[in-house]
Amino acid sequence: MYSKKFARLAFGLLAESTFISRLTRNVSSKVKPLRSLCSWTVCQHHRQENQLSNGLTRLNVRTVSHTTLDPAEVRKFQAMASKWWDLQGDFSALHSMNDLRVPFIRDNLLNVHGVWQLGKPLTGLRILDVGCGGGVLSEPLGRLGADVLGIDPVEDSVWTADLHCSYDPELRERVRYQACTLEDLAEEEVEGFHAVVASEVVEHLADLDAFANCCHQVLKPGGSLFITTINKTNLSYVFGIVAAEQLLRIVPSGTHDWEKFISPEDLERLLESFGFHVDSIRGMMYNPLTGAWSWQQSTAINYALHAVKRKEEPQPDRVWAESENLNEPGQAKSYS
Ligand SMILES: C[S@@+](CC[C@H](N)C(=O)[O-])C[C@H]1O[C@@H](n2cnc3c(N)ncnc32)[C@H](O)[C@@H]1O
Repeated sequence: MYSKKFARLAFGLLAESTFISRLTRNVSSKVKPLRSLCSWTVCQHHRQENQLSNGLTRLNVRTVSHTTLDPAEVRKFQAMASKWWDLQGDFSALHSMNDLRVPFIRDNLLNVHGVWQLGKPLTGLRILDVGCGGGVLSEPLGRLGADVLGIDPVEDSVWTADLHCSYDPELRERVRYQACTLEDLAEEEVEGFHAVVASEVVEHLADLDAFANCCHQVLKPGGSLFITTINKTNLSYVFGIVAAEQLLRIVPSGTHDWEKFISPEDLERLLESFGFHVDSIRGMMYNPLTGAWSWQQSTAINYALHAVKRKEEPQPDRVWAESENLNEPGQAKSYS
């Protein structure tokens, strides 16, 4: 299924320069995002950082849906849970995507954390792989020395991941899997990870606000968030939904929900509003003939994003109180 999906999307990119892109240029702006309709649970409050005009940081209350989980998506991946390690099968494009995403994650982490160790350069770093599936990405990150926790709501996928990892005793020490949601984990693992990875996952979630909020919660200040996903463009609508599903019937109607795709601009805005700074966004393209991915200037279809959790800025009154106390040794520090 995924090979077809990526082949179709890649075909769309090649066609962008033709009249079709001109014909459809305004489709995406006319289709109003319906993500909120996908939310199906109670609401909770969470904190959103906003910059005030005077430079202070304020905590706002914002209402978000409680869960990232879309039961239809879970059922879809449940049906494919034994196929993760078939290199020529449904997930072959995810295997070859490792050629881009693993160095992307490694190099950005090394730039942020500045530790270079030959052989196992990510040693000492804790990475959370959200929506790990069968561990296709978790394993190579573990081989680079990171301690990886892969989570996925589909128990059978986690079972497949665990089994595959158990064949390599060295990896077994560093890579663990858990069948749970991100929101469950966020309740117990506060600021526990140096990095969160969500590769080809956000387009399957019910609520991106809940996702961003939980990622922020589980990351250490200064920690990295890596996302790869599909843009919400005219091309992905025309080719991915209308042509492939409804006209040509390459995949069953309803396989993809275009409403769940998100543009890099919208994703950046969302992450910034949850206290992240977006550091880099790069376009990617899959070549269905060679089965290989390459970096592209264009983010029109697939893209990778690296964001960093902002460290809390000291508040002026707190700095003032600290300096006051420094002048009077022996006094307890008081923060207002
Ligand atoms: C396209 S697969 C990507 C798997 C893996 N990240 C990779 O690239 O090899 C999407 C994965 O997201 C998982 N998923 C779906 N809904 C999820 C949710 N609410 N939270 C976490 N993972 C979810 C699916 O079970 C599936 O394993």
